[in-house]
Amino acid sequence: MPVITCVEDLRLLAQKRVPKAFYDYADSGSYTESTYRANTDDLAAIKLRQRVAINVENRSTRTTMVGQEVSMPVAIAPTGLTGMQWANGEMLGAIAAEKFGIPFTLSTMSICSIEDVASVTTKPFWFQLYVMRDRGFVKEMIQRAKAAKCSALVLTLDLQILGQRHKDLKNGMSVPPRLTLANILDLATKPGWALRALAGRKTFGNLAGHVKGGDGILTLSQWTASQFDPTLCWDDVEWIKKEWGGKLILKGILDEEDARLAVGCGADAIVVSNHGGRQLDGAMSSIQALPRIVEAVGHQTEVWFDGGIRTGQDILKATALGAKGSMIGRAFLYGLGAMGEAGVTKMLEILQKELDVSMALTGTKDIREVGPSNLIQPK
Ligand code: GLV
Repeated sequence: MPVITCVEDLRLLAQKRVPKAFYDYADSGSYTESTYRANTDDLAAIKLRQRVAINVENRSTRTTMVGQEVSMPVAIAPTGLTGMQWANGEMLGAIAAEKFGIPFTLSTMSICSIEDVASVTTKPFWFQLYVMRDRGFVKEMIQRAKAAKCSALVLTLDLQILGQRHKDLKNGMSVPPRLTLANILDLATKPGWALRALAGRKTFGNLAGHVKGGDGILTLSQWTASQFDPTLCWDDVEWIKKEWGGKLILKGILDEEDARLAVGCGADAIVVSNHGGRQLDGAMSSIQALPRIVEAVGHQTEVWFDGGIRTGQDILKATALGAKGSMIGRAFLYGLGAMGEAGVTKMLEILQKELDVSMALTGTKDIREVGPSNLIQPK
């Protein structure tokens, strides 16, 4: 077993252990992947401000996100098909997040169902909702999230139409995996995954039995094209807010005008996001959009961020630019695909340690005091 010291180590291990179609699904952006790359490149270009001779003993990364205490300003992002990275991955991710003291968000497009995750957790998790054409089904999902005592609903607004990820089409990615010759040869090199998969959940847990096609082999593009509602508009967001009645987080905001509209709908938080570079290729990076959105609505709602976070330094940069929380998608999947629950825990430990050390080296004791003065301002 290699020595794991950073998220990149977990990524490499996940690449070895997860079937190619599912690894590629997680680790790709849409079309030319320019926005996907910009997310990490633009984060890397930001410079932290080194400070010295400041007492930095007794540091704390604790804060709150929508009023909930968190051990660091991080939540696990909703990611589709998580249980295909490692059998029962959503349950394992939720357990690891709960032990670490951060929120876990379950995707609509998960393999384990809302009820599966509720059965292995003791604290509330969050549920991410996509709006389908069938509003009865949307209502039912909201009811199930309420019954499971989810403490926030994360409504994703940037994926009513799926951006094409070339690798998914080339790999013939589907759930459950199609047993083509290429897939069988690939699985032969990943016996651990295959053995675990035999005992694990195998199809979309939240959709099974409810939506035509939900039980069988389904590609994500087929599913979204047939079920997601391209007419989604702000009136629908208000309807969902009423149906849900709890904390509402609107995810996928990249534009100031949309941020103002989201605040107008009563969002408890908004997530500045381009869906990990998986949707509009050519959109600006999330970190580039973040300060604009913070300036527009940061005094009215909590502004969070996702897209490109691979280190604790990245979390510090986002926090310094005004993000009250960061959501972690790919880093989570790398940890999970590498080592299951232990890999998720390892990933969270790595990020927290990096965040803590970097706070110290910027002369900061308390994450709640991090701000623009932690960054080198461009001259
Ligand atoms: C789904 O959320 C995806 O990005 O594939």
